[in-house]
Amino acid sequence: MTSQEESMPVNGKMEEQLYRKACEVLPGGISRNVVYRKPHPFYVSEASGCYVTDVNGVKRVDFANNIASLIHGHAHPRIVEAVTRQISRGTAFTIGTEVEIEHAELMCNRVPGFDKIRFVNSGTEAVMGMIKTARAFTGKPKIAKAEGGYHGSFDAAEVSQSANPSNWGDIGSPNSVAHVPGTPQGVLDNVVVYPFNDIERTINILNRHAGEIACVIIDPVPHRIGMVQATPEFVEALYHWTRQNKALLCFDEVICFRVDYEGAQSGYNVKPDLTSLGKIIGGGFPIGAFAGREEIMNILDPGGSDFRFPLSGTFSANPVSMTAGKIAMEMLDRDAVANLNSNSAIAIRQIKEAGKLAGIPLSITGKGSMFKVHFRDVAPTTFRESYEDAAMKKIMTLFLDKMYEEKIIMINSCSCVLSTVITQKEIDILSEAMLNSFRHIKPFLNA
Ligand SMILES: Cc1ncc(COP(=O)(O)O)c(C=O)c1O
Repeated sequence: MTSQEESMPVNGKMEEQLYRKACEVLPGGISRNVVYRKPHPFYVSEASGCYVTDVNGVKRVDFANNIASLIHGHAHPRIVEAVTRQISRGTAFTIGTEVEIEHAELMCNRVPGFDKIRFVNSGTEAVMGMIKTARAFTGKPKIAKAEGGYHGSFDAAEVSQSANPSNWGDIGSPNSVAHVPGTPQGVLDNVVVYPFNDIERTINILNRHAGEIACVIIDPVPHRIGMVQATPEFVEALYHWTRQNKALLCFDEVICFRVDYEGAQSGYNVKPDLTSLGKIIGGGFPIGAFAGREEIMNILDPGGSDFRFPLSGTFSANPVSMTAGKIAMEMLDRDAVANLNSNSAIAIRQIKEAGKLAGIPLSITGKGSMFKVHFRDVAPTTFRESYEDAAMKKIMTLFLDKMYEEKIIMINSCSCVLSTVITQKEIDILSEAMLNSFRHIKPFLNA
């Protein structure tokens, strides 16, 4: 035994020690809320493929994949090799790189509506850039977004993200709810909140602001709206309204681009003017992007005749994210997407069987390689239906803790996202763990 091993705390203690140290320098001991948990977060030692090993040596199957960003799992050899080569040649420059052009070509050739693309550093920045582009292009100040929709941390984009029964108001005219105290009233006044998947009410609401709306934003498979899919009829209604009212239709596909080869938008007859992206297109490194029609994207061209939106970013299109992202997206070809989605369908089938065996109310929403379990018989179809109250959140925490014990990492909304390295073996481990965890929470569901 080395002296370092001798001084290593026994299971559990290591994390407590790390957490105590963390709390002295990081608010709540964390840098992002998603890792927060009681009595302390888990700390990773290493990860490979679809397995993550914590500092106590406990190995878990990863069905969270850094909140849906690691489409090929951890430390994929091809990505590691290419990124290592790039790092030794430099990580960020004040001049352009060839790889950013190659990644842009790949994305623009992949999706019919992507004439041009601008890379940024996160999904938050991508949505912010998309909104500002829409405002600058249309010359209008307001945006419309779905109640409960999560689009990152830009002021306007986060309005009503955390709306709840105490503040959401009448469904026919939902309040613009501040997510953080101190949000300027001007921000709230310029965000029109609509009820997801409710055509009649949404069109009435939009009509009340016609002439002022720059864009209508929608995430077609919104993680925070119960991972309920936007119906084709709803998306078409938004599309036609935006055509009639000189507004843009903007899709937020930061998380849901993974659901199909050309993103979630390929499932609709109508297409967005602009799309924000992130997560998987960075191959495990920080990234964001927004893409769309040439005429609109050209307002970002500093040398063009229609230049209206100066946008910089120190690390935007850095060659590390570009290299990793390009390889990740090359590997995610049509066959890879089909395989990923069919594995996901198998997982859902097995989990539903586990739910029956355990005798609990269960429904599953989602699309492609992402899905969410709901402890109710009938799946929600709207934000207000999907709202989880304090009692349900408690049960979800119990469930997630038990899943951790069963050596499965999930997203804390009780969602799973698959990576291409997950096989039937891991799907079996997942459904077995779900069965045990369903049995664990059953007494509380019936309480
Ligand atoms: C739909 C959606 N938009 C935007 C974001 C923000 O992305 P990021 O965390 O990279 O800023 C996320 C992140 O989860 C997201 O799911």
